[in-house]
Amino acid sequence: MTARKGHAAGLRIHVVTADDWASHRDLRIHMLTESPDAFWGRVDDVRGLGEADWRAAVSGDILYLQARDASGAALGTLGVLPDGERDVHLIAMYVRPTARGGGVGDLLLDASAVLALEIGRPRQLLEVAADNTVAIRLYERHGFTVLARAAARPEGGEEPLTMVRELPEALSPQDDSPQDDKAPTSP
Ligand SMILES: CC(C)(COP(=O)(O)OP(=O)(O)OC[C@H]1O[C@@H](n2cnc3c(N)ncnc32)[C@H](O)[C@@H]1OP(=O)(O)O)[C@@H](O)C(=O)NCCC(=O)NCCS
Repeated sequence: MTARKGHAAGLRIHVVTADDWASHRDLRIHMLTESPDAFWGRVDDVRGLGEADWRAAVSGDILYLQARDASGAALGTLGVLPDGERDVHLIAMYVRPTARGGGVGDLLLDASAVLALEIGRPRQLLEVAADNTVAIRLYERHGFTVLARAAARPEGGEEPLTMVRELPEALSPQDDSPQDDKAPTSP
């Protein structure tokens, strides 16, 4: 698919389950602390959550992917939320600063395409802040185009963009499965 940069050796995609709640929590708290403007959530709202809350968060409708290194450390994440009969929303895309520029984002987006097709939803939508040029460039490289400006965030600031990509029919899971260590499951 569209991976442009060489992935670090041993990098693989893992589909998050309830037992991954702690690594999901760590990434979530890290992303909301390090890049608060890129996400709707606020770190103060999640700091007090306990294990049961985090288990529930990864056991709902959103399928979370993690990119992990050879040691199993989670370097980045992306959520895939099915919507209707043919869409998924991509949410909470994040790569740890120490892993940026190395194709982790490429790997996550490619894996999200495989997953979306596996669950029969060929259209992907996402929202991105209009000034997040790094992320927009990444999405454009993967075939996303601007669909519309989304509703303004409650806290103000520039309106986010809605971006969309139609996944090619030819892109079947058999052609390019993520190097997954667990098959995707239903929520
Ligand atoms: C956007 C993001 C997911 C991209 O992930 P990534 O794995 O670094 O993606 P890429 O490897 O394709 O690199 C993207 C860009 O990062 C920049 N980059 C390269 N090395 C970098 C480094 N060491 N540190 C920071 N940025 C770097 C480059 O501009 C590169 O793009 P370019 O080669 O087209 O100029 C990541 O930057 C991130 O998590 N940002 C904060 C959260 C966020 O904005 N999420 C998106 C919400 S919609």
